[in-house]
Amino acid sequence: MNKKKISKEEFIKFFKPYSQNVDIADNSAFWKLSDAIIRKIILKNIPAKSIKENDIIMDAGGGTGRWVCKLSQDYKCRFILYDLSDDMLEKAKKNISRSDIQQRVTVTKGDLTNINQIETGSVDCIISIYSPISFIYDKEKATKEMYRVLKKGGVIIIMGHGYYNALYSKMNNYFASIEEIGNIEKDYTVKWANHVPFLNVFSKESMEKLLSNAGFKIEKTYGIPVFIQPGLEDFDPKNKQRSQISKALENKKYFKNAFKIEMAHNSKPTVVNRGMNIFTAARK
Ligand SMILES: C[S@@+](CC[C@H](N)C(=O)[O-])C[C@H]1O[C@@H](n2cnc3c(N)ncnc32)[C@H](O)[C@@H]1O
Repeated sequence: MNKKKISKEEFIKFFKPYSQNVDIADNSAFWKLSDAIIRKIILKNIPAKSIKENDIIMDAGGGTGRWVCKLSQDYKCRFILYDLSDDMLEKAKKNISRSDIQQRVTVTKGDLTNINQIETGSVDCIISIYSPISFIYDKEKATKEMYRVLKKGGVIIIMGHGYYNALYSKMNNYFASIEEIGNIEKDYTVKWANHVPFLNVFSKESMEKLLSNAGFKIEKTYGIPVFIQPGLEDFDPKNKQRSQISKALENKKYFKNAFKIEMAHNSKPTVVNRGMNIFTAARK
């Protein structure tokens, strides 16, 4: 297949059913933990008191607006929800209206490799969660575009699928062929299942290099999560199955302890590459 661009058909075929089920991921304690860690890290790198009412946070590849809805409770500012998928944005409009934050959110359809709807230096911060950049093969163009629209001094915090986790997981959970593992190692792309497009994967080093090359100054990189490993059930496209680890994390004490241990180690340079996802904060 052509890894230069996900075809329009492949993109729609993946995100149509995904848009219908992603919002119930919260039913799984693994995803609840992952979300709690991400929210804590966003608040550490973009402190609520540093954001004013008229500031704009752009959610790049914001999908169904899950994060805009959550973060509108932490930040009293305005948001741009930017995404390429009609199906995700249709769901987002409903979620935003249900959260009663329509006045604060502009929903914009567009491609992160060409953000022509947004002016240079006009957004205060950018968040990009659960790896939109993994779906974009021209990732250099997308990061340069995000750099362009961000104000000088603004923070970007961006996530991509983990490279080392892809190798680990393909060997241990999927018993992948030598050829498939060799291709991941060489190409920095992974195909998790037939219905999922090839996705870019990142090490701490390759994510930091991508952002530095676009002009950003790296602040900190995290692995998300670094110790808790999801079960295959946690990737059930319908988000109905529950893994052993999700069942264990339903115990509040266990959840709290896992959160504490993850947060104590997830930005240590020697631990970050254990991450299922790589999450980097950087500044323009
Ligand atoms: C896995 S979803 C994550 C959605 C959301 N950030 C979240 O955490 O729920 C990835 C999102 O990236 C968007 N996306 C992928 N390629 C894109 C592109 N080239 N331009 C804009 N959005 C894109 C998809 O439409 C999808 O909504």
